[in-house]
Amino acid sequence: MVIEKICCLGAGYVGGPTCSVIALKCPDITVTVCDKSEDRIKQWNSDKLPIYEPGLDDVVKTCRGRNLFFSTDIAKGIQEADLIFISVNTPTKIVGNGKGRAADLKYVESAARMIADLATSNKIVVEKSTVPVKAAEIIMKILRANTKPGVDYQILSNPEFLAEGTAIVDLIEADRVLIGGEETPEGQKAIQELCWVYEHWIPAKNILTTNTWSSELSKLAANAFLAQRISSINSLTAVCEATGADVAEVAKAVGRDSRIGPKFLEASIGFGGSCFQKDILNLIYLSECLHLPEVAAYWQQVLSLNEFQKTRFTRKVIESLFNTVTDKNIAILGFSFKKNTGDTRESPAIHVSKTLLDEGAKLHIYDPKVEPEQIYYELTGTYVKTEHENIKKCVEIHDTAYSAVTGAHAIVLCTEWDEFKELNFNKIYEVMMKPAYLFDGRKILDHEALQRIGFHVQTIGKRLARTGSIRAQGSLTMP
Ligand code: UDX
Ligand code: UDX
Ligand code: ADP
Repeated sequence: MVIEKICCLGAGYVGGPTCSVIALKCPDITVTVCDKSEDRIKQWNSDKLPIYEPGLDDVVKTCRGRNLFFSTDIAKGIQEADLIFISVNTPTKIVGNGKGRAADLKYVESAARMIADLATSNKIVVEKSTVPVKAAEIIMKILRANTKPGVDYQILSNPEFLAEGTAIVDLIEADRVLIGGEETPEGQKAIQELCWVYEHWIPAKNILTTNTWSSELSKLAANAFLAQRISSINSLTAVCEATGADVAEVAKAVGRDSRIGPKFLEASIGFGGSCFQKDILNLIYLSECLHLPEVAAYWQQVLSLNEFQKTRFTRKVIESLFNTVTDKNIAILGFSFKKNTGDTRESPAIHVSKTLLDEGAKLHIYDPKVEPEQIYYELTGTYVKTEHENIKKCVEIHDTAYSAVTGAHAIVLCTEWDEFKELNFNKIYEVMMKPAYLFDGRKILDHEALQRIGFHVQTIGKRLARTGSIRAQGSLTMP
């Protein structure tokens, strides 16, 4: 079979960008991205896409209407496709067996049941959502228990490694593509067919093929290793602050060892995003189910350290502000879980904001890409408007950083947006309450220059020489 038509179930952060790039690189393939949410599909067909991702607008503009389509007609998408990606959401279970740890596979299961109901010809079904090991087996069981005459299924695992904010570059210049399938002749043939799709732009040597379970476990392992690096460097930030070491210098020295490497050693207020915590929880749950408590405890510690880091940072903010933030105006700069995305899932800014609100603070939040409704949702846990009205008494969302900081007792920088480095901190100092405090949770600002302006500055993993005002002594070098 030569793949002529691809359908993707789920037009989210994974399905949308991935299929857009496949359409860009494979003009001979028609790609239809389907979602059950009419609103989402309407946005994908509009000028304002539902997700912000650098470079995505251009790719969609080039391909949409040519060989890339966004549709709610799931039945047609499934029936016409030779290959179907399952890219639906897989949140952590909030009730029942394994709640708080196991992935909720109800959307994956319902996608598989839809395919079983609607397919009238052979399909290669590809699991792309991040899923626990053995999820392919669930898809396989559902499809094979409902096989109709003349319809055969091959199930592949093809995890996506893109990071938000760099999704398009990650997809176009992928370090590797991983495809897992059954070790039967039919399974191997299906693997080769998906390889052919990627070979339109990925060198064959970068396409790795494995058995299904290795592919699924590799995805969890890659995210767990990345998160572990961040927890490792973050664990040292407290040691640096206590001893006078500078975590940036330590990270540089450690990263120079070619066995360790320099990437992903940026100390922070903790990692966020939809994948790291969820995938480690999956790994912990799997280890517990396999009666491996030591393995589960090992990975649990990566998450515990991340919680510790968020709490430690917030505690430092409160203690510095004379141990009370009641009725104080605090400017939160950045709410997304990292720069260049509007995604707030598991963002450390949520933890910081909620703790400060519990202590009675008034928050003034600015983020270049996160919609106000999304911020209210994260702080209330609901899209119900009346709940949002309640929280608006203590939370104001601003259009600019300058507006957010006006009259603030403190600035808490939570996301490393580049535009924060370009702010005029002389101007900001003038409009803040004094003493003016600044907490840089991402280590992106010039702390000595800020101190010369008069700010009391604290950051992560470095004890600053002076935190008092030295305005009189130095020239103002900030823009
Ligand atoms: C280590 C550091 O590598 C070195 O930089 C430092 O200066 C001293 O400590 P060493 O202990 O001599 O060096 O050997 P190393 O090659 O690091 O191996 C240490 C142990 O880890 C060995 O038992 C080795 O078998 C084991 N190992 C190493 C693994 O089990 N897996 C690996 O992938 C690498
Ligand atoms: C991650 C993986 O990188 C990607 O391969 C996988 O497909 C999905 O999960 P993502 O969550 O989008 O991607 O972003 P990532 O760049 O990994 O950042 C995750 C979190 O770690 C962010 O909150 C980021 O700020 C934080 N981080 C990252 C650090 O605190 N320090 C670092 O050095 C790197
Ligand atoms: P991810 O970050 O994994 O891409 P998202 O939550 O951004 O997750 O996107 C998942 C999308 O999948 C959502 O837009 C949701 O509406 C969609 N979805 C869930 N179940 C189905 C289904 N059975 N068919 C089509 N779309 C689905």
